[in-house]
Amino acid sequence: MAGNRIRNAQLRSKIMTADQAAALIPKGSNVGMSGFTGAGYPKEVPLALADRMNAAAAAGEKFKISVWTGASTAPELDGALAKVDGMEMRLPYQSDPICRKRINAGEMEYLDIHLSHVGQFVWGGYLGKLDVAIIEVVGIREDGSLIPSSSVGNNKTWLDCADKVIIEVNNWQNEALEGMHDIYYGTQLPPKRKPIPMITASDRIGETCLRCDPAKIIAIVETHSPDRNSPFTPPDENSKLIASHIIDFLGHEVKRGRLPKELLPLQSGVGNVANAVMEQLQDAPYDNLMAYTEVLQDGMFNLLRSGKMSFASATALSLSPEAAEEFNRDVHLYREKIVLRPQEISNHPEVIRRLGLIAMNGLIEADIYGNVNSTHIRGSSIMNGIGGSGDFARNSWLSIFMTPSQAKNGAVSCIVPMATHVDHTEHDVQVIVTEQGLADLRGLSPKKRARVIIDNCAHPYFKPALNEYFERSVKYSHGQHTPHILDEAFTFLPEWQADKAAQDAWKEDSLVQADAWK
Ligand code: COA
Repeated sequence: MAGNRIRNAQLRSKIMTADQAAALIPKGSNVGMSGFTGAGYPKEVPLALADRMNAAAAAGEKFKISVWTGASTAPELDGALAKVDGMEMRLPYQSDPICRKRINAGEMEYLDIHLSHVGQFVWGGYLGKLDVAIIEVVGIREDGSLIPSSSVGNNKTWLDCADKVIIEVNNWQNEALEGMHDIYYGTQLPPKRKPIPMITASDRIGETCLRCDPAKIIAIVETHSPDRNSPFTPPDENSKLIASHIIDFLGHEVKRGRLPKELLPLQSGVGNVANAVMEQLQDAPYDNLMAYTEVLQDGMFNLLRSGKMSFASATALSLSPEAAEEFNRDVHLYREKIVLRPQEISNHPEVIRRLGLIAMNGLIEADIYGNVNSTHIRGSSIMNGIGGSGDFARNSWLSIFMTPSQAKNGAVSCIVPMATHVDHTEHDVQVIVTEQGLADLRGLSPKKRARVIIDNCAHPYFKPALNEYFERSVKYSHGQHTPHILDEAFTFLPEWQADKAAQDAWKEDSLVQADAWK
């Protein structure tokens, strides 16, 4: 029945259609939307807004807004708004193909920020004023507080900072989600900051609901739709090999007494490879695993279901349609095992450092010295964004990056002489894993890192060329700490591989230059 989930009688008067709510959003506004890795994003108001933008374009008017979220959303939000060219600026992480196209065509601004920094940037006022927040919840309590949905992301910050608030109450999400969240209200700006009182991943330090001043709520829209819930591809051979190298390595660390037998809390990044590692932990000899992560995908959900994992802290669920159905049906079974927190806490450097996580994230390319590019193709076009990978890589106890050794059906090596863009410097990258093997870089100087990365991680097809580049760099580079021949450093790009004459010309030039430096 309409309004069932809206237990505050006064707020029931704000119920309206998505079109009516979208009509309240001014042109040019900064709009903070809920949503994190396809979970908990508003399902109807962004679509209605896209219709309004379309109508404006047909009338010869421009109607754009800036969109701030927790992380990636779904076709109904990023896709719909990008399609009608309705976004002036977008932040932070996104993974929508239409959005990506517009950003790389120079038609849309994109701010790729560490996920833990977004809240404090907004509080600090660096991004301008937040005009409107559009937040999905599963219900509104009698006292007007909001029961969060399948992600928390930046919702607390948006609700605190926005002038006006539009709420979507999604009846599809199970009401029994109430109680699964932990919203911490103790963060401050410097110099007033105090320690965040979290000692283990399962600690609860906040409230179960989001506070919101009822006077700011201008519209409530009722919806009934599941989250995006993309299916995961079954682990391929490469993912299985990557997972088994990681599990062998963790076993080795336990044997050496460098990790406890239940490991340390796990952080697992987005995507199929990360999911495959979690799947394979099912058969590994570890019990009582814990997670302190950003996103909870199927692999981790299965570990919770089987009892191998006792607790997971995240900011969002990112489940396949089957797992989402199961979770939604059996929320009561997971209430004591999962907590969803604001992303400023799930990704907080202080907490990550204190808990001592094992972080596992994907990469686009790593160079032979261990610098990692997670975001850019050929140094210039964005893939998705840095997301939380920097928060975790810099501050975890153990920072692992994983990738197949080659991309684009073998045309491109993911191990390159010099990364074309660097998100994670050699100082933050401790282990690199491909299906070929694992490079433990801890305690190694750059030239030793290069040998172990090429030997253990590069694909056999690219290994001779990488070795050759490295050997010649050692001979001819300007300095011997991190040897490079800059003119050749990017010759692994596909267009260079195809252009033998250009490569030879550069090679000759670089030798002349190297001689001059000697
Ligand atoms: N050159 C060109 N393209 C490359 C490439 C390279 N060296 N390496 C990967 N790619 C392409 C793949 O071909 C694929 O393209 P497609 O979608 O057109 O097929 C795409 O990048 C994704 O690669 P894939 O191998 O499927 O890996 P993935 O799904 O694990 O994603 C990242 C890898 C790096 C893109 C992804 O992990 C990411 O966005 N990371 C940054 C954010 C992050 O780490 N978040 C987690 C923190 S909690």
